[in-house]
Amino acid sequence: MAENFPEGFLWGASTASYQIEGAAREDGRGPSIWDVFSHTPGKVLNGDTGDVACDHYHRWREDVALLRELGVGAYRFSTSWSRILPEGRGTVNEKGIEFYDRLVDAVLDAGIQPWLCLYHWDLPQALEDKGGWQNRDVARWYADYVGVVARRLGDRVKHWATFNEPNNVAYRGYGEGDHAPGIKSRDAVWRAIHTVNLAHGLGMKTLREERAGLTLGNIYNFGPREPASDRERDNEACALMDALMNKAFPDAQILGTYPEPIAADMAPLIEEGDWQIIKQKLDYFAFNHYSRSRVRWDKDHLFHMGRVPTPAGTPMTEMGWEIAPDAFRQVMIECQARYSGTLPMYILENGAAFRDAVDNEGRVRYPQRIEFLRGYLGAVLDAIAAGVPVKGYFVWSLLDNFEWALGYDKRFGIVYVDYATQKRVPKDSYYFYRELAQGGALERR
Ligand code: FCB
Repeated sequence: MAENFPEGFLWGASTASYQIEGAAREDGRGPSIWDVFSHTPGKVLNGDTGDVACDHYHRWREDVALLRELGVGAYRFSTSWSRILPEGRGTVNEKGIEFYDRLVDAVLDAGIQPWLCLYHWDLPQALEDKGGWQNRDVARWYADYVGVVARRLGDRVKHWATFNEPNNVAYRGYGEGDHAPGIKSRDAVWRAIHTVNLAHGLGMKTLREERAGLTLGNIYNFGPREPASDRERDNEACALMDALMNKAFPDAQILGTYPEPIAADMAPLIEEGDWQIIKQKLDYFAFNHYSRSRVRWDKDHLFHMGRVPTPAGTPMTEMGWEIAPDAFRQVMIECQARYSGTLPMYILENGAAFRDAVDNEGRVRYPQRIEFLRGYLGAVLDAIAAGVPVKGYFVWSLLDNFEWALGYDKRFGIVYVDYATQKRVPKDSYYFYRELAQGGALERR
């Protein structure tokens, strides 16, 4: 059975600055927490760093050509704060902002809408040295940075997002510690959550003050969490993980409250007037989705939360993430009910890593990624049929890239990158996606 997406459905592809740009020390860019973290032995698999990544800083023309050829309506990328403000605040690095200026023009020339995310995890190290997201002042400095970018690009970029996955900024950066800046502390997580929420609010206000008519939101992250058993402790661990990973940010920003499992920890941090800052009207509701997981109580974990590994034999990606399109449909329905109502909904990241390789005919076949996309896009159609106003879907990612603590080991791209030569090879999944982006129907299985 073949099914069409609604007229005007927006197809996109997503990337992030540190994962693709490289040129880490070029043209005045300052170090970010990911430069420092990836250069710390033992933090990233194989000692990989983003020093070169996909060399997008030099090869952006070629990458924009790949987008044009793909036929997508939108390209989501992020700006590197420390490329624009090497010290995090103060003097603007003209060469840094010029890079994005040229990129935006090229994307528009290709007939593609630029969707700009202002923060995809690469905090300037100079601000981490001042406490990073644990320091409330960083929210103000973030808003100053937003002002710089908005004044320069707001005439052409209409779609903006304040943060990518604020949950992971706080939880993985300051709690789990497997992401930069690598801190493992419960208190640090509470502080980071609140500062990032304040930064979101101040960033939204700044964008609206700088320019009328921009379309603004935040990019949340949702994955259903189920308790591993009906034991009380597993239920508690699961509720806490759900609060930290799914609800802490949209609850605060949309409902104006912290979810119950973390409310008591958050309460001492809330100052008068904070909710007025944090709760800003959104123009769209966006999130990334990858999988669902089961949670059990774990006495050795800082938050007493453990993830049950996906059982062998269950369909899963190279990340060990279960392939469960129906969980995705369920998330879209639940998010509409809890948060977004009639707001347009966008999926700004979804995709899968597989062990792709170029075969002797020069092709990267990997039907698994195509089947993954078929299943997840089918879930989008099902959610739309159920009345959820899903208006667009962005694949993660345009290119294979630096997958954070896993370095270059995991390939999420629809375009293969040979890191030795920087050659780009569109995978079979690129051509599958192109058919859809150019108006083709989805063949459902
Ligand atoms: C998301 C991140 C993105 C990428 C994918 C696989 O959590 O936003 O940068 O790493 O996971």
